[in-house]
Amino acid sequence: MLRFDQLDSTNAYAKRNCSLIQDQTIIVAKTQTAGRGRLSRRWLSEPGGLYFSVVLKPTQIDFLPNLTQLMALSVCQTLRTLQAEAWLKWPNDVLVNHKKICGILSEAVTSANGFDALVLGVGININQKDLSQAGQPAVSLVKLGIKTDAETVLNNVLDCFFARYEAVLQKGFSAIRTDYLAFFPYIGKQVSIAHGTIPAQGTVQTISPNGELLLNTPAGQTIISIGDMCI
Ligand code: BTN
Repeated sequence: MLRFDQLDSTNAYAKRNCSLIQDQTIIVAKTQTAGRGRLSRRWLSEPGGLYFSVVLKPTQIDFLPNLTQLMALSVCQTLRTLQAEAWLKWPNDVLVNHKKICGILSEAVTSANGFDALVLGVGININQKDLSQAGQPAVSLVKLGIKTDAETVLNNVLDCFFARYEAVLQKGFSAIRTDYLAFFPYIGKQVSIAHGTIPAQGTVQTISPNGELLLNTPAGQTIISIGDMCI
């Protein structure tokens, strides 16, 4: 585990130093000066939150996107053990009271050799009192009245994640589908998926054994493998 008081971004650090970092290394920072979110957004990284990246160098790489879903599930289950009513928003957001409490940014590192590593970056709101600058509705554990610390949450999430890591590497999403669906409240709900210029709209049917979102749209069933779900 590599610990820092401050980094620009744990993901950026992991990518810069990828060749020197061992498989399954965790990089943690107490704050980030340039925390990054999905879709080129920034990630507010004030003291009190948990900011870490897991560097993974598996030899079996068929199911890499499902590792992000495993991380989201691991965070959701950890928050549940702390009595937070956490839910999953496909593919990998964790919400409480419809507000974001965790975001995950997964980035592949490639070189002339092909795939080098997957960097799974996780931000969890824990003890921040002011999230008004987050850029989207956000909540922290302390705002829910839950007292804990970043270290406890980190250890729990990592235990949950590595308990099923090998299973997901070998079998993909099907290894965690039942558990994931237990915390996925959107089946039968009308949603739109923002990806590219034309949003897809429809009713959520389920999540496939591969981890894709199956939507019933006026044009028939649509399989969505990437995008941002809007309710
Ligand atoms: C999202 O947009 O939902 C993803 C947010 C991911 C934030 C985490 S914090 C630790 C790691 N380092 C970063 O710069 N981003 C990720």
